[in-house]
Amino acid sequence: MTAATADEDPTVEVVVLDGDDRHVLAVERGRTLRDALLDADHSPYTSLTSRLNCGGRGACATCGVRVRDGPGPDHWHDRLAARFGYPRLSCQVTVDRPMTVELVDKRVWGGREPNADPDPDGPRSGSR
Ligand code: FES
Repeated sequence: MTAATADEDPTVEVVVLDGDDRHVLAVERGRTLRDALLDADHSPYTSLTSRLNCGGRGACATCGVRVRDGPGPDHWHDRLAARFGYPRLSCQVTVDRPMTVELVDKRVWGGREPNADPDPDGPRSGSR
């Protein structure tokens, strides 16, 4: 049997920005951001998509949040979202380090960051 050390803290701090409100969550390390937000009543969904979503499989694109400070994108959708300024899929973000996320106003479908600057040298359709 080994003793737990201080660097094995089972929780990670997640700061959630929701409009002018700021909430600090202690999230079990390894959970998805989507599940952590839902457990804390900070849903990434609209009232409609809270019932009509893919359940965290990365297929419906309804669980978007803006990751202001946290891990880089792994999922293909998240890499594109990061490049073009769209929200990232909270179901594809593993909470394994402290992070700050912002809930998205979903009244406007597909809202982009106004200062998004896609890489003009990125992959083009039909190439390769
Ligand atoms: S819940 Fe469907 S993409 Fe995240």
